[in-house]
Amino acid sequence: MIVIENIPDMVYLRLNLKEPVGFVPTMGYLHEGHMSLVKKARAENRTVIASIYVNPTQFGPNEDLAKYPRNLERDLAMLDKEGTDAVFFPEDKDMYPAGYDTWVTVDNLTKPLEGNVRPTHFRGVTTVVTKLFNIVRPTNAYFGQKDAQQALVIKKMAADLNMNLKVVVCPTIREPDGLAMSSRNVYLNPEQRKAAPVLYKSLQMAQELFANGEKNADVILGQMTTLIQKEPLGKIDYISISDTETLAELKIIKKTALVSMAVKFGNTRLIDNVILGM
Ligand code: PAF
Repeated sequence: MIVIENIPDMVYLRLNLKEPVGFVPTMGYLHEGHMSLVKKARAENRTVIASIYVNPTQFGPNEDLAKYPRNLERDLAMLDKEGTDAVFFPEDKDMYPAGYDTWVTVDNLTKPLEGNVRPTHFRGVTTVVTKLFNIVRPTNAYFGQKDAQQALVIKKMAADLNMNLKVVVCPTIREPDGLAMSSRNVYLNPEQRKAAPVLYKSLQMAQELFANGEKNADVILGQMTTLIQKEPLGKIDYISISDTETLAELKIIKKTALVSMAVKFGNTRLIDNVILGM
């Protein structure tokens, strides 16, 4: 596995790669969720590239950029074990040199849900992902369903800007107790960790209610809220039932819906979601 730390070397390596090229962008501190994307990329492409870059522009002023968990040695060993061909590991000074002045924004899809609470987050994501796509020029790029809004926003951006690649969204990988895998789970103290599966329990409750014929979003949200509020360590940031494509809030679920949420445990903010009707 080759480790590439600067942009010209990555662009040069790309010239002679075997097609198709699968790309897994990450912020490192990898877990089985990331590795499921690498495995999928490995199965579908002749070359697999991963990136590790903690992108400063997607963190708000009071977010966890400085203490975002990092373990490069472990990450590289995990990527190597899954047959990654190259890892792109750029530096801030190259990604955002002095005078950097260009941003990519997706307007409407980034306004609700995460965008409502983290107003500058998606502009950072879409900008860095565009830069990474331009540098790596993948055939297929892999993202997790856990970040449901991010996956939709990146798909929309790739379609609207005629990016010549396929965005592949892979299922959420969970711990045995249902907690969605996330690099941020490491921030949870033992009590918070014990309480955190309530997110998935509430999502399962939504699935069950819907399967039993409940179509009224407020009824489902009400029961989910009651369940989460029984867990005193968790503070709901938002719970939503929205259209799976536009993210507009739904009152009545016709065929499908995205049920998504953010819940805070102390300073740690966890997100999770399921899609109903699929
Ligand atoms: O999902 C992530 O880890 C990040 O948002 C991404 C897509 C790597 C962009 O920094």
